[in-house]
Amino acid sequence: MKPTIADFPATRLRRLRRTPAIRDMVRENTLSPADFIWPVFVRDGEGVVEPIPSMPGVNRLSVDKVVEAAREAHALGIPAICLFPYTDPSLKTEDCAEAWNPDNLSNRATRAIKSAVPDIAVMSDVALDPYNINGHDGFVEDGYIVNDRTVEALVKQALSQAEAGVDIIGPSDMMDGRIGAMRNALEGAGHSNVILLSYAAKYASAFYGPFRDAVGASGVFKGDKKGYQQDPANSDEAMRLIERDLREGADMVMVKPGMPYLDICRRAKDMFGAPTFAYQVSGEYAMLAGASERGWLDGDRVMLESLMAFKRAGCDGVLTYFAPAAARLLNG
Ligand code: PBG
Repeated sequence: MKPTIADFPATRLRRLRRTPAIRDMVRENTLSPADFIWPVFVRDGEGVVEPIPSMPGVNRLSVDKVVEAAREAHALGIPAICLFPYTDPSLKTEDCAEAWNPDNLSNRATRAIKSAVPDIAVMSDVALDPYNINGHDGFVEDGYIVNDRTVEALVKQALSQAEAGVDIIGPSDMMDGRIGAMRNALEGAGHSNVILLSYAAKYASAFYGPFRDAVGASGVFKGDKKGYQQDPANSDEAMRLIERDLREGADMVMVKPGMPYLDICRRAKDMFGAPTFAYQVSGEYAMLAGASERGWLDGDRVMLESLMAFKRAGCDGVLTYFAPAAARLLNG
């Protein structure tokens, strides 16, 4: 749509920017705690709050503390919390069996949250990297991350998460055919209402660095994920991935990372109109939080501005480590 515009001085666009009341009237997008999904890192133990150095203000939490976080999130109006396990190195194996252990950290946290705070939605991550001896999202054979055998394992992982009671499953692995396989398996196992939020357009990004520290994957991981995650140079490919995943049974789609990929968010929303989320990833958080800590940026303002940008780009919501801080600010 091309805006109609008269010549100056009939049009003075500053008229609509003069006072707070007028700016409130013409604001095109809004931000509220309901726009956020809060990613949290879960670790073993009791009463543990362990800071993550590359993500100032973000901690690994033991299950009891995650339940407290869920309670806090719910009170703030945040609708969903997303679990990422920090897996003990002794549980990382070549067959990644811990990924579908009904009593693994992620599943224990899910059950604890769902019994203590049933109204908050729990989202889980599907990918083998927290459990894999080499830090990859799939099985490695002769240096190649194999697709179909990985998908079989991811389906088992997804089913164990559904069994534990997650509301939303987030496959972040970028294998081909996994959404269809998971949807089939979920339907077959009586989990027809479990939501699939596909990390459909996920790029091979250097912005995931701090996350890999947070889940303890940095030490073991060598190389890159370019054989399955997308090339940052591509945009059309993202549309093909999103269309494919929607056809296979994704309820919602995600673009990841967020801030450097807002063009992808806008294109996806315009093209498909599906519920579209962005992940403001660990490196984006680290840039803003790190600079704010040093006094180089006004932390509160850049936080809210960056989150509003996702709404402006067409996103329905955003996964963000800022969720509780932003919600507190927005709630006054
Ligand atoms: C793993 C996964 C990653 C993130 C979410 N799930 C890292 C990766 O793909 O290496 C990154 C999130 C972040 O950086 O905040 N499948």
